[in-house]
Amino acid sequence: MNKKLRIKPPRGGYQPMSRRHVRTLSYAFLFVSVFGLFYVFSRPTDSLAVPFEQHAAYMNDRRNVDNRFSKASYDWRKAPFHNRPASYKQLPKGKPKELPKIQYDFQEESRSRRKTREARRVAVRNEFKRNWASYKKLAWGMDELAPIAGRGISSFGGWGATLVDSLDTLWIMGLKDEFREAVEATAGIDFGGVVDEFGGAISVFETTIRYLGGLLSAYDLSNEKVLLDKAIQVGEMLYRAFDTQNNMPLDRLYIDVAKETTGNGFTSDSNICFAGIGSLTMEFVRLAQVTQDPKFYDAVARVTEFFDRVQNSTRIPGLFPIWVNAFNQDMSFDRTFSMGAMSDSSYEYFPKTFALLGGLEPAYEKLYRESAPLIDKYMLYRPMLPDPKVGEELLYCGEATAVSTQGDKPLLNSEMQHLTCFIGGFFGLAGKLFENKHHVDLGAKLTEGCIYAYKTMPTGVMPEVFNALPCPSRTECPWNQTLYEEKVMDNSYGKYGDDLETVMKELNIPVGFTALRDKRYLLRPEAIESVFVMYRITGHEEYLDHAWDMFQAVKKYSTTAFGNGQIVDVTDAQSGVTPEDKMESFWLAETLKYFYLIFSPHDMISLDEWVFNTEAHPFKRPKWEALVVQG
Ligand SMILES: *[C@@H]1O[C@H](CO)[C@@H](O)[C@H](O)[C@H]1NC(C)=O
Ligand SMILES: *[C@@H]1O[C@H](CO)[C@@H](O)[C@H](O)[C@H]1NC(C)=O
Repeated sequence: MNKKLRIKPPRGGYQPMSRRHVRTLSYAFLFVSVFGLFYVFSRPTDSLAVPFEQHAAYMNDRRNVDNRFSKASYDWRKAPFHNRPASYKQLPKGKPKELPKIQYDFQEESRSRRKTREARRVAVRNEFKRNWASYKKLAWGMDELAPIAGRGISSFGGWGATLVDSLDTLWIMGLKDEFREAVEATAGIDFGGVVDEFGGAISVFETTIRYLGGLLSAYDLSNEKVLLDKAIQVGEMLYRAFDTQNNMPLDRLYIDVAKETTGNGFTSDSNICFAGIGSLTMEFVRLAQVTQDPKFYDAVARVTEFFDRVQNSTRIPGLFPIWVNAFNQDMSFDRTFSMGAMSDSSYEYFPKTFALLGGLEPAYEKLYRESAPLIDKYMLYRPMLPDPKVGEELLYCGEATAVSTQGDKPLLNSEMQHLTCFIGGFFGLAGKLFENKHHVDLGAKLTEGCIYAYKTMPTGVMPEVFNALPCPSRTECPWNQTLYEEKVMDNSYGKYGDDLETVMKELNIPVGFTALRDKRYLLRPEAIESVFVMYRITGHEEYLDHAWDMFQAVKKYSTTAFGNGQIVDVTDAQSGVTPEDKMESFWLAETLKYFYLIFSPHDMISLDEWVFNTEAHPFKRPKWEALVVQG
C-alpha cells in the first residue's frame, strides 16, 4: 500500500471523471486539456504524502540534529540512588514467541471505498495541521496551547508536553518538516530541573506516559538518536521515583530532593492509585529493551511481582482496587474497583506488556487471565433500553464495591466514564492475544456501547460520565418505564423538583441514561481508540462510518479560533456554547492520531507489529523470528 496517493481534499464542484465519460464528449481533446490544466492547478496542496515506511527520504535530507543536543543542566545518570537492589531482575531471555495474529486479514479495497477513506483521512490531518500551526506560533515549547486565548500554558513540568506528545503523530501523518522542527526543539529541552510553579514535584505517571512514552515511540518510528538520548534523560530522572525503601514507585517525584546525596531516598506512598503505580510498565520495559540497561526493567518487574503476589488477597480476589498501600505492599483495604480513572491503564498494560515482551513473561498473562473474567462478571452490564434489540448489542462497564460479608456478590455502580471506553479495545486486543473469542465479543459490545452513547447525545458526543440502567440479565431485558423513571428521579436528588416531566426536560437526558454526572467532553481519545482497535481486529466497515460521525461531531462543537476546546455540555446542541479554553496534549497525541489511523491503510502501524502505550504512543513489538534489540 505504499503507492503514492494523490488525494483531493473534498471541495465543491470538482468530481474526477471516468475515462468512458470523457470519450463520450465531442470536444474530447479540448476537454482533456482543460481538465488537465485544471487538475494541475487544483493539485491538492495537502495530498497525503506517504505511509511512514517511505520516510527514508526524511532520513536523507535531515539536518544533523544530534549536534544541537543540549545536555541537561543536571545529569540524571549521576543522581544518587540510595536504595539500590542487591541484583537486577533481567529482561526475559529467549526468542520472542509467535503470538496469535491480531489484525483482520484485510482484502483489497475498492476504489470508491479508498476515496472516501482517504478524504476522511485528509480532513483529520487538516484538523491536526490547523492545531499545530497555532501551537507553533503561539505556544511553541509550552505544555499546552490555550485554544481560545491563544497562548501557552505550563501543566506538565513545563517541558513542552504537547511538543513531545505529538512527535509520533507528526511522523505518522507524514509531516516531515514539522517533525524535524519538533525534534530540534525537543533536543533542546532541559530535563535537569522543573519550573517552580509545580512546587518542585512532577507526576510520575503523567511524565512517564506522555514524555517518556512520546520520546520512545518517536525514536522507534524515526530512529532519530537524539530522541533516545532525551528518553534516557527522562527515564533516569523518573527512575529516581523508585528510590524508596521497598523500590515501589512514588506518585509524585520531588525533583530537587531526588538530587540530594545525603539521606535514604524516599518513603513509598501508603496511598497511591492503581493506575499510578502500575502503568509505568510498558515505558520502562521499552526503555530497558532499547538501552539494554536492566535497572529499568527491574524497576517495573518488582511492581508486577507485587501485583502477582497480592492478586488473590484483595476484597474481590482477582481484581485490583483503586487504592493501593505501596508502603506495606497491601491491596486489601480498598473496597472499590473500577476500570476508569485511577485504575484503567494498569489493567490495560497486562496484555500489552505481554506482547511487548514477546510473550516471554507469563506473569502478565496470569494477571490478565485471573482478572478479566471478574471484570466481566462484576463490572460489565447490559443497559436497559426501550428497544431491547438495541440494548442486546451493547455493554457498559461500571464500578464494583465489595461488601463486608464474605461470599456476597459485590455491588454494581452503573457509572461509566469516557475514560472507561478504552475497555472495548482492551478486551478485543487481549481476546486476540490470548485466543479468547468471548473476550473479543465483549470488546465489540463495549465499543458499541460507547458508539451508542455518542450517537444518542444531542451533539453526537459522549459525556465524561453517565449512568445507565443495568439489566438483571444479559439475555432478557424488557424495558421497565416505572423503574427507569424512579432511577432518573433518584439521581436528580430533588434538584429540579418532583415532577418527572420537568426533571427530564431540565436534565435533557436521552432515554435510557439515568444520569449524566459530568456533561463535558474533554477531547478524550478512548472511544475512537476502541473503534480503531476493533476495526483493525474485525475489518467491519461500519466502524469507519461511526468514526467519521464521531470526528465530525467533535469537530463541530469543539472548534475554536486556534484549536479545539473541551465541550461544556454534550446535551446542548442548540446554543453554540463556547468550548472551554483547555486542550490537553492528548488531543493531538491520541485523539487525532486514532482518527487518522482508522482512515489510513490498515498496515500503517499494524497491531501485529506495534503496541500502543496508554497515551497512544506505538512501541515496536519484537519480531518472533529474531530478537530486535536496538541501541
Ligand atoms: C486465585 O484464586 C482463583 C479462584 O479461587 C484460583 O483459580 C487461582 O488459581 C488463584 N491464584 C493463585 C495464584 O493462587
Ligand atoms: C418495574 O419496576 C418497578 C419499580 O421498581 C417494579 O415494581 C416492577 O415490578 C417492575 N416491573 C416488571 C415487569 O419487572
